[in-house]
Amino acid sequence: MIQDKKVVFSGVQPSGNLTIGNYLGAIKNFSRFSDEYKTFYCVVDLHAITVRQVPADLRRRTYETLALYMACGLDEKKNTLFVQSHVPAHAELGWMLDCYTMFGELSRMTQFKDKSQKHAENINAGLFTYPALMAADILLYQTDLVPVGIDQKQHLELTRDVAMRFNQAYGDTFAIPEGYIPTDTMKIMSLTEPTSKMSKSDENQNAVVYILDSKDDIIRKFKKAVTDSEASVRYAPEKPGVSNLMTIYRAFTGKSLEDIEREFDGKGYGEFKLAVGEACADGLAPVRDEFARLMADKAHLESVMKAGADEAAYYARRTMSKVRRKIGFVN
Ligand code: TRP
Repeated sequence: MIQDKKVVFSGVQPSGNLTIGNYLGAIKNFSRFSDEYKTFYCVVDLHAITVRQVPADLRRRTYETLALYMACGLDEKKNTLFVQSHVPAHAELGWMLDCYTMFGELSRMTQFKDKSQKHAENINAGLFTYPALMAADILLYQTDLVPVGIDQKQHLELTRDVAMRFNQAYGDTFAIPEGYIPTDTMKIMSLTEPTSKMSKSDENQNAVVYILDSKDDIIRKFKKAVTDSEASVRYAPEKPGVSNLMTIYRAFTGKSLEDIEREFDGKGYGEFKLAVGEACADGLAPVRDEFARLMADKAHLESVMKAGADEAAYYARRTMSKVRRKIGFVN
């Protein structure tokens, strides 16, 4: 806690286009904290370079990710919106926490294992220590609550372990953060391979629905979504495709799974998929419009980034001077 309010921190990578999985699993929830908490939402560009990026794309996506935060309802006056590399304390604390994070712990991270399989030609040290930098992001702001998708749960547990280890060694330094992981939307799965997570880097464009996809594209992708041969809209582990579509439909309409089963009782998958596609496209339309408006004014986005970085740096400095003193660096 800094001052009177509890602190929320979260981050999104500016790599690839964001999917409805990112939206439903994380970003859509961010604005619910704006009033009661001191909120920091960060575009984590330092994390993005753990895999190769085309410089011009990285730069554009950094603007886009900030614009998307805002288009998803984050008011820059009520939330601290900033870019990770604009506040050097992230990299600095990241290094320090590397020294309090164990090789064995990092080796167990499933995201590391996945990404090193996917990028076998570039298993760099940053990819390995990625979770220590994420811990630094969170711990710099004395964060109480971290809204993330379920895939980040393991990184969050590591963050808590590292914070507790540091506090044990040096006395109270970091707040111990809790995760805020929405269970009602769960994981959004690939539309073509519904047993694996919907990933923004999937090569199959039909597997992934992006927040900024056009209505036509969204409907087309849902039409092609993999289901099963049973032809009944029912939520069940042996029906991963249909269950995933129901999860998405529920998230956009607020209907319960039972309501959805009733609504499509005796109806075919064609009708069901169209309904899901329309609910999704309609739900995203305001976000898409606002995004386009924001991207047309780079200067405004830059002023938001600048103000956000100044504000974040102020809080980061307070933690850093404490950390330096505790570790034994000369002031
Ligand atoms: N690792 C997160 C992801 O891939 C992004 C992230 C970086 C993050 N730092 C963070 C999320 C701090 C929450 C808090 O989605």
